[in-house]
Amino acid sequence: MSSLDTKTRGRTSRGRLRALDAYLCRFEPELLSRRDGPWARAVFVDVGFGEHPWTTLESAEAFRALQPEMTVIGVELDAERARAAGAHADARTHFRQGGFELPLLEDEPARLVRAMNLLRQGPPERVPEVHRTLGRYLLPSGLLVEGSSDATGAILTAHLLRRRPEDAEPSLTREALLFHTDFSHGFAPLLFRDWLPRDLRRRVRPGEPIHAFFSEWAAAWEEARAAGHTAPPEAFREAALRLAARTGAVETDAWLLSGGYLVWRPGGGISP
Ligand SMILES: C[S@@+](CC[C@H](N)C(=O)[O-])C[C@H]1O[C@@H](n2cnc3c(N)ncnc32)[C@H](O)[C@@H]1O
Repeated sequence: MSSLDTKTRGRTSRGRLRALDAYLCRFEPELLSRRDGPWARAVFVDVGFGEHPWTTLESAEAFRALQPEMTVIGVELDAERARAAGAHADARTHFRQGGFELPLLEDEPARLVRAMNLLRQGPPERVPEVHRTLGRYLLPSGLLVEGSSDATGAILTAHLLRRRPEDAEPSLTREALLFHTDFSHGFAPLLFRDWLPRDLRRRVRPGEPIHAFFSEWAAAWEEARAAGHTAPPEAFREAALRLAARTGAVETDAWLLSGGYLVWRPGGGISP
């Protein structure tokens, strides 16, 4: 265990990260399926899969629809959870004990590293180092997804952090912030505040870019409701379209908006 790793509870539930899987399959098919050069060996790493590896196995199934040969590695700090998950291992699915210094072999570069619901406790100041540490295992243009969700996955947010292809030394761009809701809790932009990634959660205060973003989103939502779009899915969609027009930094893809996904991609990236 390195000084970055801290013990956390292991709760997870089936289906919790399904919406994230669906987003990645739809918008990152090349990342998931490419097999040129080192990408032929490139793995998906699920860091901190929890008491049971349900979400790892669900993602493996989803991603293998695009790339049947993909190697999937679930990593757990808790040795007993890692051992028990071994019951679900096969030739292309491995479970290993380890922390943010990932237990990968030399010929296992990562195409995608996911760290969901790991950083809820602990100081936000350690987050940049966790990102840097996990980013080191990615191939150039590989993706690190780090964020939080509620227990069932009804509300989810995640950083999309991309390894810069041009830099020899691994470094990440904070490319976008992904929001998703299945509307089972209704919808208002502030629904997401308590589920923001660890480094942003306490930053929704005046003067911070994330605060300005939520203020714009709330204003767009009020406008949408005033225009008669009160049902949560409709209010979400209409607010997103207004927010996109106001900021120029929100995607307006129909699949995203009808599915409860909002992608915020500001020009300079998500400020740290
Ligand atoms: C709340 S569970 C999350 C499970 C799953 N990722 C999900 O989103 O439902 C967090 C798990 O991460 C593990 N964990 C915490 N820090 C870790 C680290 N540095 N490296 C690997 N696993 C870690 C904990 O042992 C725990 O089992």
